[in-house]
Amino acid sequence: MEKVIIITGGGRGIGRALSLHFAARGWAVCIVDLNRASAAEVEALVRRYSPSSRALIADIRDEKRIKALMETIAERYGHIDALVNNAGVTDKEHGGSWTFPSNCGSPSCLPI
Ligand SMILES: NC(=O)c1ccc[n+]([C@@H]2O[C@H](COP(=O)([O-])OP(=O)(O)OC[C@H]3O[C@@H](n4cnc5c(N)ncnc54)[C@H](O)[C@@H]3O)[C@@H](O)[C@H]2O)c1
Repeated sequence: MEKVIIITGGGRGIGRALSLHFAARGWAVCIVDLNRASAAEVEALVRRYSPSSRALIADIRDEKRIKALMETIAERYGHIDALVNNAGVTDKEHGGSWTFPSNCGSPSCLPI
């Protein structure tokens, strides 16, 4: 059975690299990002390796949107194997330290 991974912030940087990494190994990648253009660009790339991969546009701070998105993923794939909780931003106003827009306090990568 095809493995399914959700990568938040998959449209750029580390998330983009991880999306390509997993797609090249045959995983179906759910690229969750608030930036539609970059998510679409990564979706086009990963689908060359993994045609069932999809970009899903969402702000991970929006709990209602994330619940709906999880239902979409569950309906489409039937299961989820891993989550990379990667989406984040740099807080340039406070000396460039890294901050995380989600408040789940979870580790970044979870096998499910
Ligand atoms: N790059 C580093 O040196 C470094 C160091 C420590 C921690 N981190 C953490 O690693 C993660 C990725 O870093 P990066 O350098 O690849 O970042 P990046 O800025 O290059 O990419 C972040 C991606 O996340 C998306 N994103 C941001 N907020 C979002 C939200 N609320 N909902 C959905 N998508 C959102 C952006 O649109 C973007 O595509 C971040 O959480 C960052 O805090 C990075």
